[in-house]
Amino acid sequence: MKVLFATSECAPLVKTGGLGDVSAALPRALAALGHDVALLMPAYGNMVLAGQIVGLFAIAPQGPWPAAQLIKLRQDDGFILYLLSCPQLYARAGTPYGSPDGADHSDNAMRFGLLSRVAALIGTPHTPCAWQADIVHANDWPTGLAPLYLAQARANAGPGGATVACSLITIHNLAFQGVFPMHTCESLDISPEVRGVDGLEFWGQMSMLKAGLNFADAITTVSPTYAREIQGADLGFGLDGVLRERAHVLHGILNGVDTTLWDPANDPLIAAPYSLESPSGKALNKTALRQRCGLDASENRMLFGLVGRLTHQKGVDLILAGAERMLEQGAQLVVLGSGDAVMQARFAELEARHPAHVSVTLGFNESLAHQIEAGADCFLMPSRFEPCGLNQMYSQIYGTPPIVTRTGGLADSVVDAGSDQGDGTGFVMQTPRQDMFDDAVQRALAAWKSPVAWESLQRAGMRKEFGWEASARAYSELYAQLLQA
Ligand code: ADP
Ligand code: GLC
Repeated sequence: MKVLFATSECAPLVKTGGLGDVSAALPRALAALGHDVALLMPAYGNMVLAGQIVGLFAIAPQGPWPAAQLIKLRQDDGFILYLLSCPQLYARAGTPYGSPDGADHSDNAMRFGLLSRVAALIGTPHTPCAWQADIVHANDWPTGLAPLYLAQARANAGPGGATVACSLITIHNLAFQGVFPMHTCESLDISPEVRGVDGLEFWGQMSMLKAGLNFADAITTVSPTYAREIQGADLGFGLDGVLRERAHVLHGILNGVDTTLWDPANDPLIAAPYSLESPSGKALNKTALRQRCGLDASENRMLFGLVGRLTHQKGVDLILAGAERMLEQGAQLVVLGSGDAVMQARFAELEARHPAHVSVTLGFNESLAHQIEAGADCFLMPSRFEPCGLNQMYSQIYGTPPIVTRTGGLADSVVDAGSDQGDGTGFVMQTPRQDMFDDAVQRALAAWKSPVAWESLQRAGMRKEFGWEASARAYSELYAQLLQA
């Protein structure tokens, strides 16, 4: 099958979160199954590209969109990237979505409208790059319009008309919906028939994610539990009704871990390698991390780690509120992240009050992220919701049992230490409440004091297989079903 994976970010070129990791790994895992896979993303200003340019294709201006170009790049491992180059829209400082100060770009509808339109075009006989996809796989709201454009192309072709690709959209986070004023539809070439409540209308505005959900041939999300949760009002973010209606095409497929990047036995970013068979390097990583972060190492204190977006979603407020109690009980805390300004300031204050036992690094730092996974004793991830979550998987295979909430992919990937099924790999809170977080911390502190109990948790986590192959097979089966339908 020819599969186009359309995305707004891909590690290591550009990454703001888990979507970047998934975009780097899943398309390659699909290619390893024998499919002809290419990835489409914008050519942002600050990307460092390696590989060989093997094609350049012009995209004519249309409506509000200036002329653009598709750069076909063969990466060193043979994987094909199509980079959508349109410097006016994409060559800017900051993240894919906004300026360095965090504000969204005001023309995001145009920017991601073009990305979606080109993704759809590659699924039609009018493909600009001499390669027509059978499947266009969209991801989150930035490519949410692609399924709609494909549906429009199919309708225009009529019965027996030209073949148009099937479409699938993956929800990585339902909280981000790509909502813009309804009049934006005029400039984005979106026909009036699809602007109603059965189309992309969302409380009087237009939602790119809703367009994807209503027009894709299939919808997936990144864990089975999240696929159920988003059909309820609590975690449906106003789209639960749409998802219930489309439940027959909605599937939950758990993400995997890219073990070429995340493997403690073979990770150039950490101080010492270690594995299930030879675990002693883990302690060296703790020493190195405490040293790097300037933490007091005169006693062996339990070291808790946190890497991620500092937001309400991630339950970071629970950590902040519980931190003083943790420190009183002899814990240390190492934090890497950025996000909410108030949370950032509160962490900075905590560090200032306890410089020997708290280290806070604000910003994005790939090597420190690996070092925290390797060097911490326990990883904190008490998310309010978590579509999949990758850090809890990384921490399990790095022998760093996580504290998580029973939600989304956390529920699907972590087994509680007290589980009667045995083989606990972490500490699971029933709900994201302060008392439950504090209780999970108590359980972790107590377990850590018993080397036998702790080692059994670590080993059970390190034995887990979170590779991408099983997920890629599930996507592949779904694509095949779509093409047969
Ligand atoms: P989300 O996508 O919701 O942010 P995930 O757990 O799926 O959460 O993925 C987050 C990814 O981003 C992980 O690879 C994590 O290591 C990485 N990450 C998050 N914040 C940082 C940071 N400040 N520095 C380095 N890596 C980070
Ligand atoms: C999102 C989710 C996260 C998930 C990631 C990759 O950013 O918040 O839970 O792991 O996408 O699918």
